[in-house]
Amino acid sequence: MSEWIKVARVSDLADPGKQTLEVQETLVVLVHLNGRFYCIDDVCTHDGGPLGDGPLDGHQIVCPRHGARFDVRTGRVLCMPATEDITAHEVKVENGEVFVRLNIAA
Ligand code: FES
Repeated sequence: MSEWIKVARVSDLADPGKQTLEVQETLVVLVHLNGRFYCIDDVCTHDGGPLGDGPLDGHQIVCPRHGARFDVRTGRVLCMPATEDITAHEVKVENGEVFVRLNIAA
């Protein structure tokens, strides 16, 4: 299991808002939505599109390349052309700071 990494302050991101970050050499998207934070892989499972460049639509993020949608809360794929989920990472907030723990094999 990877360690918790401080990635932002709560005040850094608008709500709703998102930011692409590099955490331990992995590109991820940190999402602030309805007072909660979520973290998903930046790379679309269809053809590598940069999800962090796509728009949020409620709890969905839309791939800017071909329009696949993923649930930012779980990473679950919601529509074609992608068919595989993206990885969702753990997030916690402590004392106004946001921490991410990558969901990767040790
Ligand atoms: S690369 Fe994301 S939908 Fe094709």
